[in-house]
Amino acid sequence: MTGVVVLGTFLRRCILRALEQVRDVLAPLLITGETGTGKEVLAKALHEKLRPGEFVHFDCAGLPEPLFESELFGYKKGSFTGAYSDKRGLVELADGGTLFLDEIGDLPLHVQSKLLRVLQDGRFRRIGEVKERKSSFFLIAATNSDLCSLVEVGKFRKDLYFRLKGRRVDLPPLRETPGDILPLLFKFLSEMEKSPEITAEALGILLSYSWPGNVRELRHFASILPGEGELNSRNFPYDFLEGGGRYGDSRGHLTLKKRLEAIEKSMIEDMLRKGATIKEISRELEKSEVQTRRILKKLGIDPKAYRKG
Ligand SMILES: Nc1ncnc2c1ncn2[C@@H]1O[C@H](COP(=O)(O)OP(=O)(O)OP(=O)(O)O)[C@@H](O)[C@H]1O
Ligand SMILES: [Mg+2]
Repeated sequence: MTGVVVLGTFLRRCILRALEQVRDVLAPLLITGETGTGKEVLAKALHEKLRPGEFVHFDCAGLPEPLFESELFGYKKGSFTGAYSDKRGLVELADGGTLFLDEIGDLPLHVQSKLLRVLQDGRFRRIGEVKERKSSFFLIAATNSDLCSLVEVGKFRKDLYFRLKGRRVDLPPLRETPGDILPLLFKFLSEMEKSPEITAEALGILLSYSWPGNVRELRHFASILPGEGELNSRNFPYDFLEGGGRYGDSRGHLTLKKRLEAIEKSMIEDMLRKGATIKEISRELEKSEVQTRRILKKLGIDPKAYRKG
């Protein structure tokens, strides 16, 4: 299974926020983000927390156009050549559960209308059938294209776009949340039962690389690392070091200072979550308690938020 649990600290915050948004009403949720940022991991995590029924995944990318409607809405026997028996569509299978439409920007316009109808009143028809059927599901749609521009060029229905964009979570690329790099890497390494030693040199490379494939790429990187020993520049693929996003890369929007702050913040938050006191944190930082409180304030961390009870 992918992802199992989501631990990048930023993603964890996204889940909590998304849960707040969807707890009461099961209106659709839109998840946007570049490839590999964890859109599917987030969708599954939300489904597991919120819905008792099935998690039905449908990938809209690359499917031949005539198949969309029959896959999603099903058909009646004999309604077209090849329809040898009745077939339930995914919308029906998702009743009581979650329908995850991946790459929703690729959904053809006529299927968008039918989807909008079932979202509005929970009703739809199988192809070739007169009788209306009902299905009630939580729709999570994901995309890494800009739906708004698809609306402008007439490829995406405006009304469906408005219905989706009301609840939206944008997953940032890993290069913008560098504080997640180490926690994720350590989690992947421990799942793979590896424990290489991350040297300062390796840390510098990890933090300055732009990770165009995001968390998926980080996971793959963990898989090619040795199980033990010191990690240094020899362990990095060539494009990490050359043109793959070192300091000056236009894709890496954050300065080194901001990256280091993000790491510091994520490590302190991790300590607080594990119950560390300000005194313990100040010892680790080799600062006084007053200085430590000042650092926390500067990083936007509220220690009270971590107190139990
Ligand atoms: N927060 C996370 N915790 C653990 N693993 C994660 C996390 N986010 C992503 N992954 C890993 O990265 C891989 C890619 O995640 P996912 O498939 O959810 O990305 P995606 O945004 O749907 O990508 P795409 O747009 O290419 O479909 C997953 O297989 C999972 O292993
Ligand atoms: Mg995906």
